[in-house]
Amino acid sequence: MTGLTIRPMTPGDVPAAERLSDEGFHELDLRMQRATWPAPERRTPTHSQRWTERTLHFLRTDPGGCWVADDETGLVGFATSFVRETTWCLATYVVRPGLQGRGIGRALLEAAMQHGRGCLHGMLSASTDPKAVRRYHLAGFEMHPQMVLTGVVDRSAIPPVDKVREGTAGDTDLMDSVDRRTRGAAHGPDHELMQGVLRAIVSDSDTGSGYTYLDETGRVQLLAATNRRTAARLLWAALADAAPGSRVTVPHITAANQWAIQVGLAARLELHQEGYLGLRGMKPPAPYIHNGALL
Ligand SMILES: CC(C)(COP(=O)(O)OP(=O)(O)OC[C@H]1O[C@@H](n2cnc3c(N)ncnc32)[C@H](O)[C@@H]1OP(=O)(O)O)[C@@H](O)C(=O)NCCC(=O)NCCS
Repeated sequence: MTGLTIRPMTPGDVPAAERLSDEGFHELDLRMQRATWPAPERRTPTHSQRWTERTLHFLRTDPGGCWVADDETGLVGFATSFVRETTWCLATYVVRPGLQGRGIGRALLEAAMQHGRGCLHGMLSASTDPKAVRRYHLAGFEMHPQMVLTGVVDRSAIPPVDKVREGTAGDTDLMDSVDRRTRGAAHGPDHELMQGVLRAIVSDSDTGSGYTYLDETGRVQLLAATNRRTAARLLWAALADAAPGSRVTVPHITAANQWAIQVGLAARLELHQEGYLGLRGMKPPAPYIHNGALL
């Protein structure tokens, strides 16, 4: 590893990091491809733009959590991470294919984890790459398998859904309270980022409170609630809103969230496994469906 430098990421690094992230995850998808799960695709322009906006957001809120590795050829790896209250979260982490397995990832993760040294808890969503899983295990994370529900909703199975409404920026304090109860730390500034591009559905009644964010494809990006009944109500609301006949995805379900599996199978979705929720100093949040980068 001659000429390798580990240094803080700057906004000028973000376009190259975005290309490297697309390349690294595409190569991983091809390497780990399984017959049952959608064929690997390159990032859409919308996905690239959101990735870029999110990474610039991390650079604004947590410049000390974002690191890159350079050699004489340019950017060869990066790790972005952030602290929210008690919790350090790893957002994204890639080393250029062909240079993996030589210790670059270790140096990057150590730099990023320094940013979270005062935190009680840690969260990350691990890919299926055995190198990533090994790195996280060596860094003290426990691995909790993630499941994913996918398919076309059987609309005849949808129960009447009440006590839900559209979320607005005025719900942010409520969302932060639910976050603290379920995952031990609010999302704080990440709510504004999500509200800029995602649709929020909120449930807030005498029987419980919660919210979910959905993207334009109907993919659940985050769901948190104070009890399982409210969580199930929100998930049904999300599934009911999918365009009839369209494919929906509910990713990042841990075994602690059987309520989500119950809803998904009742809606006749398929259940698969994909990656791990890596946790340090905490149990799998529930009722909770985490976001892959904002956890
Ligand atoms: C995950 C990733 C960032 C780690 O970076 P890296 O430079 O490969 O990491 P390192 O070389 O420091 O560490 C990899 C470890 O796995 C080991 N390893 C290498 N090949 C392996 C394999 N096929 N199976 C299991 N372990 C392997 C290495 O020996 C090393 O362990 P060690 O430190 O005990 O020797 C990089 O591999 C990557 O970009 N993967 C694809 C994208 C991805 O999955 N990102 C993580 C998203 S959560």
